[in-house]
Amino acid sequence: MTRPTTSPAWKALQEHVEQQSNTTLADLFAADEQRAQNFSLTAAGLHLDYSKQPVTERTLELLTSLAADAGLPLKTQAMLKGERVNYTEDRPAWHTALRAGEDAPPEIEAELHRMEAFCTAVRDGSWLGYNGQRITDIVNLGVGGSDLGPRMVCHALSGHAKGGPSVHFIANADGAELALTLNKLEPATTLFVVVSKTFGTAETRSNADSALSWLRSATSDTGAIARHFITVSANPKATETFNLPDANGFTFWDWVGGRYSLWSTVGIGIALSLGMPVFRELLAGAAEMDQHFATAPLKQNMPVLLGLLGIWQNNFLGVGQQVILPYSYYLEYLPAYLQQLEMESNGKRVDSDGQVVDYATGASIWGQVGTNAQHAFLQWLQQGTAKIPVDFVLPLTVPLQTPEQQLFQVASCLAQSAVLMRGNQADNSTAAMDIQRQLPGDRPSSTLILPTLDARHLGALLALYEHKVFVQSVVWDINAFDQWGVEHGKHMASGLMDDLTSGELGQHDPSTRNLAAKFIERRGSAKN
Ligand code: F6P
Repeated sequence: MTRPTTSPAWKALQEHVEQQSNTTLADLFAADEQRAQNFSLTAAGLHLDYSKQPVTERTLELLTSLAADAGLPLKTQAMLKGERVNYTEDRPAWHTALRAGEDAPPEIEAELHRMEAFCTAVRDGSWLGYNGQRITDIVNLGVGGSDLGPRMVCHALSGHAKGGPSVHFIANADGAELALTLNKLEPATTLFVVVSKTFGTAETRSNADSALSWLRSATSDTGAIARHFITVSANPKATETFNLPDANGFTFWDWVGGRYSLWSTVGIGIALSLGMPVFRELLAGAAEMDQHFATAPLKQNMPVLLGLLGIWQNNFLGVGQQVILPYSYYLEYLPAYLQQLEMESNGKRVDSDGQVVDYATGASIWGQVGTNAQHAFLQWLQQGTAKIPVDFVLPLTVPLQTPEQQLFQVASCLAQSAVLMRGNQADNSTAAMDIQRQLPGDRPSSTLILPTLDARHLGALLALYEHKVFVQSVVWDINAFDQWGVEHGKHMASGLMDDLTSGELGQHDPSTRNLAAKFIERRGSAKN
């Protein structure tokens, strides 16, 4: 495979970044009165303004050459066609098939049809609990991709909920999150959705066992579990774990990565709480972005531009961070979702040839819902020593918002982006201001506008970031679709549980031994 640093474009970009080093965003706007229009793009209903990024036409020309040199067009087609692009696990990464409708393998629609029938039954009351009551609450038990995507979507679209059960997401294994939730629920009206691709994740299995005990404490009816537990997994033995009928098991496939799986039956919590039509609208929005990604020329391709802007920041401006600032309460889980999507995909150090890379790969992704962030870390962004790129995500209208509230959100978002770029020294009244009060400006951001926060535009937004991540992985020549980095920790934790129980800690390092001793001592004293 091609190392990006051997591309002529890479060397040209290194020269270009030197040439640009004294050019500010203000200079770029002064040089092109059409800059805002020329560095904006609309696709799949989304509008991206990247004019406040420190790039010129030349920058983009070189970045798209870099992508072309990496073979992006052909690799994109390969991914979209379901070829085995996940080369360390020898499987496709075919999440786009989940939203491809009749162009996809028939088993996908067949499983969606099963999911639709089940969700309809729960929502119309024909599926009842063990004592004949309707299901009023859904509890999704899962972690990582088996939690973050459905959780984020359910919250993002919660303003559209019309009837249907409430949905709760439990991911943490420390017991408190589950206990605090179940304390508010009734076993007779609660449905547990156990979501795990492998069905081997300790956190989820632990929570499922606790949930089962909670149900069994309420009824001796041995048939109750079949009314209150379903499984979602790529492991065909999932239902066996709880002696459930096959009808209670929903499947997806090993070529769907966990962090790319919300479009499959992993998203059943979305369809249960919001209805299948909303879920299908989500799929349709993603499919529209897929189509754009597959067909738009590189320089007019939104996922390509978003990915390359990140590479410009990461590999040429040396900024290994990306802030996500969604200006809507409904999108408050978006940063956490994108953290897994981006960092578990591109947090890699070895290329496709098995060589350790000598260039930066995945950036650290963080953020918080605006306007809250203005009272948390916008100070750091505006007056700190680092110039960190920000993606503002701004829905222009959302449910349950008054025109005045909408106006405030929009004004706040645009203001922060403008001040990051301009600072406050251009304003005459502050010309003589002392330096303590100066905002330097020249700080980069992009703004993504959704006309409204509905399933279709949300689907397009999430697909946009999925493809952005893929674009970057291709340029960096890394595998976005495996996650070997998390497997070892899981196995070690399992071994440590045994060693903490037995007290046999000799094989561990001195620090682990000392820390374990604290726990054992505390546990001992707690028993007395
Ligand atoms: O974080 C590691 C990981 O394997 C993720 O990729 C996955 O989404 C999560 O754990 C949960 O895995 P599972 O769905 O198999 O329980």
